[in-house]
Amino acid sequence: MPATAEKIKVRNVEFNFDKVPKHWILGSSIATHFVNSMHIVFPEGEKFFVRSVRKFSKDLKNEELKKQVVSFCGQEGIHAREHQRFWEVMEEQDLKPEGFAKFLKTTAFSGKYSLENVLVNTFNKIQPRLGDKMALSLTTALEHYTAILAHAFFNEPFATNKHFAPQMLELLHWHACEEIEHKAVAFDVLKEVDDSYIIRVSGMGLATIMLWGYIASGQIYFLSQDKDKSIIKIPIESFILLKTVIFGEIGKIFQSTF
Ligand SMILES: [Fe+2]
Ligand SMILES: [Fe+2]
Repeated sequence: MPATAEKIKVRNVEFNFDKVPKHWILGSSIATHFVNSMHIVFPEGEKFFVRSVRKFSKDLKNEELKKQVVSFCGQEGIHAREHQRFWEVMEEQDLKPEGFAKFLKTTAFSGKYSLENVLVNTFNKIQPRLGDKMALSLTTALEHYTAILAHAFFNEPFATNKHFAPQMLELLHWHACEEIEHKAVAFDVLKEVDDSYIIRVSGMGLATIMLWGYIASGQIYFLSQDKDKSIIKIPIESFILLKTVIFGEIGKIFQSTF
């Protein structure tokens, strides 16, 4: 059943990140930096989601959807803020989140020659607003992924393990709940704006490369800065993480969508 605007609640929560250990998932550097990378990818991505959806909000004829867009933007704004607050903890752990954020902005979002600007400007020259629609399609696909991750997160024994730092589990559960609440909003906007299958599939292809590519880049970046990682454990931890992503709930949900 589609969510109503009332069901997409903007919760102005603030998390306490005191005493989060450096390797806060199962004591594993590989698993921790995989999710640490998301603390940078999510805020920059969420700012992009808001930009791309807002470009069409005033044109929407569906008043209910317009209200949902307002709640969607509110939720994404607070997600970005809370994940970004964790950067301070990462800095205290001798990691450099700002460096990765700068790389992400320059190459993916908002930078003059970023994928976002090149995509929007190039396609807008071909046909007015086509670039904005491509950006919206990318947002829709990325929102599909965040919903997959959110659903998986409540099923995945690895992710709900008691060896997670509890305050981080709270943050991730809250984010997952709200991703599920608003998962249809960007898709519904795209459907109203342009229901072209080609635009939708192009966004999915690009989202797949971008999301996993940038998460993996951030993971490698933070691993390279981590002086406390155990080199000996890296191969086995990598194997467990890959197995979890590909053959666990994330993989199963992803396969069932095709
Ligand atoms: Fe979010
Ligand atoms: Fe979202």
